Amino acid sequence: MPPAPSREREATAATHRPVLVDEAVELLAPERGGLFVDCTVGLGGHAAALLARGPSARLLGIDRDPSALALAAERLAPFGERVRLVRARFSELGEHVAAGEVDGGICADLGVSSLQLDSAERGFSLQREGPLDMRMGGAEGAAGATGGAEGAVTGGGEESAFDLVNFYPEDELRRIFSEYGEERQARRIAQTIGAARRERPVETTRELRELVYRSKGGRRKEGRIDSATRVFQALRIAVNRELVELERLLGEATRLMAREGRLVVISYHSLEDRLVKHRLRSLATPSRDPVTGRPRDEERVMELLTRRSVRPTEVEVLVNPRARSARLRAAVRLPWNAQ
Ligand SMILES: C[S@@+](CC[C@H](N)C(=O)[O-])C[C@H]1O[C@@H](n2cnc3c(N)ncnc32)[C@H](O)[C@@H]1O
Repeated sequence: MPPAPSREREATAATHRPVLVDEAVELLAPERGGLFVDCTVGLGGHAAALLARGPSARLLGIDRDPSALALAAERLAPFGERVRLVRARFSELGEHVAAGEVDGGICADLGVSSLQLDSAERGFSLQREGPLDMRMGGAEGAAGATGGAEGAVTGGGEESAFDLVNFYPEDELRRIFSEYGEERQARRIAQTIGAARRERPVETTRELRELVYRSKGGRRKEGRIDSATRVFQALRIAVNRELVELERLLGEATRLMAREGRLVVISYHSLEDRLVKHRLRSLATPSRDPVTGRPRDEERVMELLTRRSVRPTEVEVLVNPRARSARLRAAVRLPWNAQ
């Protein structure tokens, strides 16, 4: 039996606002019917909107987080047999659908959910004191069916933020803060952490936050953001191998989609968005014939549906500040290279 969602979780689900939902559903065009994959089904916001607009659309919903899947199962129950939920990482999508099977489209709304951010005990939030965890798949061991979902994900055994902060060499921490957080004080922060953990382990989000402030001469704000934001973002990306996950998904998506399948990706920081932008551009750009100079159009795998990224409106950001950094990019699978 799936774990019953707690009241706190239900409240999060009730107030959860999916980001750029109208834009994403419009681009996915579920009224065409077919199989859609929501790679980050989360609390089911995008999935519900997609299924409501496409009465003959079917949905495979994937998430690595069993608590999210339990809520998605409840929210998507009215769609009955049209929905299948699987606990997996989206880099493993090829194990759940066959090549060319996804004739509707693939959607990925990257990053963490409000459920994860709002749960202090998950350790994602720098505003709430909690253990240094940050594993999206949770802390428990390899799990079987959860929340009405099938599949298994290795949860236990994955390194948590605690492991990284306390056991990674200082130089590796510096690299993580600098590469994934674009943090200019990366070296100093890694050194401060190194000195602190020689005394005793760094255990909580608050302790880590204070160490970052100390490295920055007590400065708690940088412009409008908290000065520890970049370090927290970097650790989360490293713990969950977010960029590797995204690269694998982008590498597999075209193989798994049938002609006319649509790919929609919403990202929340520049590292992700850059990856999506470059990958989609390269799939949409043919090489040129060296003699005639003409583009070899038959080589193109996708056509861009968004020339520039789509951003949330001011009204959406006002209502849902978490939408602030969102960027959506989309493309459609071209007929000629389809499986
Ligand atoms: C921003 S939330 C998605 C919210 C969802 N679109 C909704 O409307 O409720 C991102 C979700 O993706 C999941 N996730 C992130 N990376 C993942 C990965 N590599 N594989 C599977 N799920 C992932 C997280 O656990 C989280 O639940």
